[in-house]
Amino acid sequence: MIASERGEVGLAAGIALLRDGASAMDAVEAAIRVVESNEADHFVGVGGLPNLLGEVELDASIMDGATRRAGAVGAVRGFPHPISIARAICEQLPQHLLLVGAGAERFADEAGIERGETLTDEARQIWRDGLSPAGLERAEGMHGLGEVAYRQQALDRLKAMSPPDGPWGTVNVIGMDAGGNLAVGVSTSGYPWKYPGRVGDSALIGSGNYCDNSVGGAACTGRGELAIRGNTARSVLQGLAAGHDPVKACCEALAETLALPDQFRAPLQALCLTPDGRHGGASTRAASTYGVMTASDHDFRIVQRGQV
Ligand code: GLY
Repeated sequence: MIASERGEVGLAAGIALLRDGASAMDAVEAAIRVVESNEADHFVGVGGLPNLLGEVELDASIMDGATRRAGAVGAVRGFPHPISIARAICEQLPQHLLLVGAGAERFADEAGIERGETLTDEARQIWRDGLSPAGLERAEGMHGLGEVAYRQQALDRLKAMSPPDGPWGTVNVIGMDAGGNLAVGVSTSGYPWKYPGRVGDSALIGSGNYCDNSVGGAACTGRGELAIRGNTARSVLQGLAAGHDPVKACCEALAETLALPDQFRAPLQALCLTPDGRHGGASTRAASTYGVMTASDHDFRIVQRGQV
């Protein structure tokens, strides 16, 4: 299994399942649930940073490389484990793939997925610190009533958005089981202070997540709007299919995406795993890494990504 930065905390849980003969889908879901429970991670699940109204909205997707079936959710509130809602859509609602907002929450209740608080005190404080006093007053009093002044403040906040230092945003986990089946899972709270209802690449198959047993699995972290426009995860697989090694496939997919004009440019990363167990990643940041763990390992190890 491989995992993007901060996803390493889930690898042992996923590998334990694989050692017992579980499927790649089971292992990827289990690994991501650990990350979603980690309150110290402010970009995934519980502890994720909220949108402009102070509400945590989560996106996730999971894709099975054997069937290329997938499930995904966007802008879900009140559920700590959006990856499990995505999995349930994949397996229990096969006529659909992506549910958002209230519909996704309704389905999650029907599927028996646990509700829970996702906004922590620490995340609320980081959110407050990022808003001006006037904007904060409006955001906490408004709850989306649409006042023009608040909307202007919100848009100003988004325009001022600059990439935080260090690893941030979204978790990718890619796994392969004993039968050689691949699965890719992605989960995120998205951009801090994002506009309510914003859905990023993590929920979109082809953009932030793609998996095909015959070629490999790939996923993205970072600026989701670019990965959507570049269809970047699928682009990584096209590079693999053309014969590139994993690092080159990720670098070329990022380079192609980064050629798009984007005034809000922020870090972008890609990660991939092939059916023969090769893996690689790329990033716009120096010293970006990912974690790797196999069934014979006692712990994960850290691998450098290529830089674009
Ligand atoms: N890549 C995660 C997001 O843009 O929401």
